Amino acid sequence: MAKPILLVTRKLPEAIEARAARDYDARLNPRDEGWSTDGAEIARRAAEIRADGILGAAGDKFDAACIGALPDSVKVIATFSVGFDHIDIAAARARGIVVVNTPEVLSFATAECAFTLMLMAARRAGEGERLVRSGQWQGWAPTQLMGVTLEGKRLGILGFGRIGRELAAMARGFRMEIHYRDIQKLPPEIEQGATYHDSEDSFLGAIDILSMHVPGGEENRHWLHAGRIAKMKRGAIVVNSGRGVSVHDESLIAALKSGQIRAAGLDVYDGEPRVNPGYLALENVALLPHLGSATIETRDAMGHRALENLDAVLIKHTAPPHRVA
Ligand code: DGY
Repeated sequence: MAKPILLVTRKLPEAIEARAARDYDARLNPRDEGWSTDGAEIARRAAEIRADGILGAAGDKFDAACIGALPDSVKVIATFSVGFDHIDIAAARARGIVVVNTPEVLSFATAECAFTLMLMAARRAGEGERLVRSGQWQGWAPTQLMGVTLEGKRLGILGFGRIGRELAAMARGFRMEIHYRDIQKLPPEIEQGATYHDSEDSFLGAIDILSMHVPGGEENRHWLHAGRIAKMKRGAIVVNSGRGVSVHDESLIAALKSGQIRAAGLDVYDGEPRVNPGYLALENVALLPHLGSATIETRDAMGHRALENLDAVLIKHTAPPHRVA
């Protein structure tokens, strides 16, 4: 029997491409070119090869126009990501296209990235690195680049899902106090001593560091805006490794300049890969290029998870384990 035709929009880890090539008539994107993020281009390529499935990634624009233009042969879109805000779920449903993602396997790595940013922001690691590289460092000095310690600080986790909870586990090792906001209070075995705030004001007013782990999409657009920043303690730290759209950049930049926010660590950006130039001009913000899940182990695990889901739909004809539409 002919293997299902799979359009792969990005360069993937070797083991994943090998597995895809073994089990599918896989049409790999050989050079990881920019075309893959363009919805019209994805639809055109899928039509050209009469794809049965598409393995895409965060950043690929599966908007309504793209999904509307996909050939009838497409039964499933798998995204190599946990986030699926780049896919128009309603449009996929309307066309009966299954959408699957890769949750769980990237929670630790993404929390690790948030923790890295938190340390970079608190300990001014980016500034220090730039100083050494500039050749201007004059040697150890008692008051040079003093940051703040994480020990004893109140970490406020916005979105206490898998990633937020992994971050909490790491933060306990640094003797931080964990506070969280979520849709509802979670059972004690999940909270593990973390303090739930049923009021946003009490949450924002209590914490020293805010780490954001909310999904993208309209419901969280510009969640962190000037009004909420004003409710935080002066000198607090902000970390975002969720989605860029949830931060109002101009408000955060103003707060970083005024000192209302001491420092920030960002891995994601509104409209990325474009980064608001206001951040680039500031020393007190650590900027990473969406590295959340970027470990060798995690990217392999994500690829296997995506293929397990595709196998379910296209080969085994069973329910995919991680269906979002
Ligand atoms: C995700 O999985 O949603 C990440 O942001 C992409 O690595």
